[in-house]
Amino acid sequence: MGSRPFGIYVHVPWCSSRCGYCDFNTYVPGALESASPNTFVADAIAELGIARDLIGGRAVPVSTVFFGGGTPTLLPADDLVAVLDAIDSQFGLARGAEVTTEANPESVDAKYFDRLRSGGFTRVSLGMQSAASSVLATLDRVHTPGRAVDAARTARASGFDEVSLDLIYGAPGETDEQWRQSIEAALTADPTHISAYSLIVEQGTRMARQVSSGALFPADDDVLAHRYLMADDAFTDAGLEWYEVSNWARGGVDGSSFCRHNMGYWHNDDWWGVGPGAHSHVGNYRWWNHKHPGRCSASLAEGELPIAGSEALTQSDRELEDVMLRLRLAEGLPLDRVNSGQRHRVQELASDGLLDESQLTRGQLVLTRNGRLLADLVVRTLT
Ligand SMILES: C[S@@+](CC[C@H](N)C(=O)[O-])C[C@H]1O[C@@H](n2cnc3c(N)ncnc32)[C@H](O)[C@@H]1O
Ligand code: SF4
Repeated sequence: MGSRPFGIYVHVPWCSSRCGYCDFNTYVPGALESASPNTFVADAIAELGIARDLIGGRAVPVSTVFFGGGTPTLLPADDLVAVLDAIDSQFGLARGAEVTTEANPESVDAKYFDRLRSGGFTRVSLGMQSAASSVLATLDRVHTPGRAVDAARTARASGFDEVSLDLIYGAPGETDEQWRQSIEAALTADPTHISAYSLIVEQGTRMARQVSSGALFPADDDVLAHRYLMADDAFTDAGLEWYEVSNWARGGVDGSSFCRHNMGYWHNDDWWGVGPGAHSHVGNYRWWNHKHPGRCSASLAEGELPIAGSEALTQSDRELEDVMLRLRLAEGLPLDRVNSGQRHRVQELASDGLLDESQLTRGQLVLTRNGRLLADLVVRTLT
């Protein structure tokens, strides 16, 4: 540790209700006998303490913290601040650390944001998804169409300079016009960052069952590609630059509004994941926690980390991951990181218009706009 930036991810596995498209590790309060949101803070603080003891004198200051979920903002703001305080006292927050929480629009208000801001949070990422009520209904979202934009403005008024919105395109039944309205609505909030994800119909979800029974029809790839380009045009016109396939942010010389925590994932830096199902990556090791909150509590009560599995990464694993992750970034991948066996394919991809020719002459692999639409294919071709 210490040779790369160090982040901490805190997974809050609770949501007031379950959205039909979501397969994240999350539970509705009352669904589990052996765990509830009430024990989350004590468990997270215990986990941080054990992690700190294990790391010993090698701890490095924490550059970024990210509370994700689930719905972190289902917990009282004081709970999130208590966990952040524990991170600071156990590890030490680096000066200027980025501290983000994901937030569901219906679960936050001015008082909540004020408490987070005074407690040291610097960034809020709101799950807006859509501005169309029929799309929100298909996604089982419980907030009204305007709620996310209002929440973004409230966060700004509470002193959050960094406000991000998550959008989803390609929900069954969504029209181009509804997507255009969602893009425009998001931009009226003047966010510093937007993530726009193509809806994935995840196996095992309620939405997957609705699709297989014929009750819902997923959007086809051409529709998804068109919606991606609509978003890219609108965000770019509004001064947000793409910096990862699904992410746009205000730029600036220091890339000021990029999500530094997520950049840590894409650069394969070090991070420690706290909470049920959280994944960690430090040096050449990766490990992941038990998904069940009750199972995690039981390990922590024994004074043990709730680790379900781990793996040591070989040099070739790391090189492969580097290609997969960095190719998705606007900064691109240095040509010499591509395995020599695959390097002959680079020129082919550039000739097909998927890699930027002018960047290639500088020894850097950067996706073109068409390349971003086919990013998975480019990655597969080069790995
Ligand atoms: C897992 S959620 C957690 C944050 C918060 N609970 C929320 O719903 O906004 C993080 C983001 O993942 C995205 N997401 C979740 N499931 C998805 C899916 N099946 N396809 C595309 N995006 C998805 C949503 O945009 C969401 O904002
Ligand atoms: S999308 Fe967000 S609110 Fe919905 S179930 Fe998943 S984590 Fe919870």
